[in-house]
Amino acid sequence: MASPSSFFFVLVLILELITATVGSPTCRSIVASDTDRIQFALNLEFLEAEFFLHGALGKGLNDIDPNLAMGGPPPIGAQKATLDYTTSQIIAEFGYEEVGHLRAITATVGGVPRPLYNLSTQNFANIFDNAVGYKLDPPFNPYLNTVNFLLASYIIPYVGLVGYVGTIPNLANYTSKALVASLLGVEAGQDAVIRSLLYERANEIVSPYGITVANFTIDLSNMRNSLAMCGNKDEGLIVPLDLGAENRTDSNILSANVDSLSFARTPQEILRIIYGTGTEYKPGGFLPDGGNGKIAQGFLNNNA
Ligand SMILES: *[C@@H]1O[C@H](CO)[C@@H](O)[C@H](O)[C@H]1NC(C)=O
Ligand SMILES: *[C@@H]1O[C@H](CO)[C@@H](O)[C@H](O)[C@H]1NC(C)=O
Ligand SMILES: *[C@@H]1O[C@H](CO)[C@@H](O)[C@H](O)[C@H]1NC(C)=O
Ligand SMILES: *[C@@H]1O[C@H](CO)[C@@H](O)[C@H](O)[C@H]1NC(C)=O
Repeated sequence: MASPSSFFFVLVLILELITATVGSPTCRSIVASDTDRIQFALNLEFLEAEFFLHGALGKGLNDIDPNLAMGGPPPIGAQKATLDYTTSQIIAEFGYEEVGHLRAITATVGGVPRPLYNLSTQNFANIFDNAVGYKLDPPFNPYLNTVNFLLASYIIPYVGLVGYVGTIPNLANYTSKALVASLLGVEAGQDAVIRSLLYERANEIVSPYGITVANFTIDLSNMRNSLAMCGNKDEGLIVPLDLGAENRTDSNILSANVDSLSFARTPQEILRIIYGTGTEYKPGGFLPDGGNGKIAQGFLNNNA
């Protein structure tokens, strides 16, 4: 017969098991070297470089610094967007900044080949359909005009930013920390600019969908939270007061926690989002063949 104390012990054990399964493994940090963590970021830096360069200039990394791609394929479906002058200048600058980031990462820890990216209008259309929860008609085209391109851009640097916030505390080496802190600074700046440009248009209706800019950002943020499966780490441009800074404002130009500190994401959460599949084991979305580098490849091989 089990004594009351051993019954209690088993109960505690079960409770611990439940907590461990429900809470952590999905959202737990992984063990990886500085090099692997920083190379993981290349998956996002390449994506941003290609999307911004093509969007603003109609050409990509292959036209600017092809060696950085290390033989990886060019993206599918990237196009020059129809942008107003100011936005075009800003996005071109962001694209060039990503080239610098790629060069700095490659010089510091070595590169990985550029993975295959799907930047087709259909891929963006699927993402926006998933965000709003029904099929937009006509399909959302990121390259059509300034507001569409800014909404599509809302998706990208933020994921890089929260990834860098999650990376820095796990780095061991001074050189790595210095590099990623400097990458984070610029990534956060890009996200803030995109969000500010969108905030100016927060109440505009995005034609012909009858959805405001702010509501699109809320839907996109909610979609990323549900794909990543680790709680609320992503907030749209307008929020309920209790998510605004000091609970005193519903404007939310920067997405941050209750103390206005940036949210952090793990590589798994990031893969779930950019694959659009909600799992780091199944590629898709922006990365039809999956990401490169040890971390992303490790999950893909694990699944095989
Ligand atoms: C830190 O990382 C850099 C870049 O990978 C490397 O050159 C350096 O030797 C590392 N330093 C230590 C102390 O491990
Ligand atoms: C790109 O994405 C679209 C939409 O999901 C899909 O139809 C197309 O097959 C994808 N292309 C590749 C090469 O994966
Ligand atoms: C925006 O979202 C709010 C809250 O869901 C909703 O009440 C409102 O009708 C939406 N408006 C537009 C135009 O998107
Ligand atoms: C804001 O509200 C949240 C709960 O919604 C609370 O945890 C937090 O302490 C509040 N912050 C301030 C500054 O009152």
